[in-house]
Amino acid sequence: MSTENRHWTLAKRPVGNGYAEAFALATETLPALGEGQILVANKVLSMDSGTRMYMTDREDSYQPGTPLGAKLIGTVLGVVTESRHPGYKAGDRVRCYGQWADYSVVEPDTTYCTKLDDAHADLKEYVGIYGANGWTAWVGVVETGAVKAGETFVVSAAAGGTGLIAGQIAKALGCRVIGIAGGTAKCDLLTREYGFDGAIDYKAANVEAELARLCLEGIDVYFDNVGGEILDAALANMALFGRVAVCGLITNYIAQGPVPGPYRFDQVLMKRLRIEGFFSPDFYVREPAFNPELARLAAAGKLRLPFEVSTGLEATPEAFTKLFTGANIGKVVVEL
Ligand SMILES: NC(=O)c1ccc[n+]([C@@H]2O[C@H](COP(=O)([O-])OP(=O)(O)OC[C@H]3O[C@@H](n4cnc5c(N)ncnc54)[C@H](OP(=O)(O)O)[C@@H]3O)[C@@H](O)[C@H]2O)c1
Repeated sequence: MSTENRHWTLAKRPVGNGYAEAFALATETLPALGEGQILVANKVLSMDSGTRMYMTDREDSYQPGTPLGAKLIGTVLGVVTESRHPGYKAGDRVRCYGQWADYSVVEPDTTYCTKLDDAHADLKEYVGIYGANGWTAWVGVVETGAVKAGETFVVSAAAGGTGLIAGQIAKALGCRVIGIAGGTAKCDLLTREYGFDGAIDYKAANVEAELARLCLEGIDVYFDNVGGEILDAALANMALFGRVAVCGLITNYIAQGPVPGPYRFDQVLMKRLRIEGFFSPDFYVREPAFNPELARLAAAGKLRLPFEVSTGLEATPEAFTKLFTGANIGKVVVEL
């Protein structure tokens, strides 16, 4: 079978949010599949902030950088159209680590790839609540954050894919939940539509002072998605024996060099804090345990996630940019 495949490559390292200049759309004729490979017709590309780090040449990241000229990669949802792997057949719906392209060539024995169940007809649910964002939020809140009912929970990038799920899980577990997000519209949405007890517009407010006002007994768990100045504002307001669950450091991803701080690291000792990072590929295998817990909350009306959908492969740079300009509410995807 000869198939034309449009795909995005990394033409140069992005500077800031210059993805339109850094990505190049190319076309190839797909080569014949090798033994053990499958061909996946991509239906949904998951846009994930952490992917920004693979576009740099830093060597200390949790994943090797993408070489210049190589295809851009990420989590995709799709349907197998051809298989030379005994465990997969044409028609299987899969979530895998694929390419930002019309088709992904995947080697399931060496690359993350899993068949999807039939619980959700809408494929994109498998990169929302029932995918890495949902599992990351669950682990950060329940395990790393180890929240207890009655505690005060604060989450940054609270209206984004991961933060919105994390805040709702913490609320469902009995916490008082404060979200930090950019703009009054997002903050209103958090408190009016998603049950948050308070919200701070970090673009307009003094975050440290607002956290002090809203968290009179201190923050028991800070779920950090951004790092930088907001992390410092949270550290200054932690409760004794508080936990900082380090999910992401979006303010660092675009930086060209080392980022100073946190400046309030002294609080780790003063307040006897625990700070711990966690990384979703470490727990992908636990999907069968996570999804029923998340589905239970969703069925009870305690967990919802909107999607920010862009359509067509050519919309990928614009969709990816939304993560860094805050133009999204909920999970950003590209539907093909
Ligand atoms: N550890 C893991 O395994 C794992 C897995 C998934 C995601 N994550 C992390 O979770 C975080 C959220 O990722 P996501 O993919 O779900 O994206 P997202 O939250 O849907 O979108 C990113 C959000 O971050 C906010 N933001 C962007 N730049 C910011 C800045 N300089 N300061 C403060 N806020 C900023 C924007 O909202 P505003 O309008 O509020 O600025 C934007 O909507 C990222 O740090 C990501 O790396 C980690």
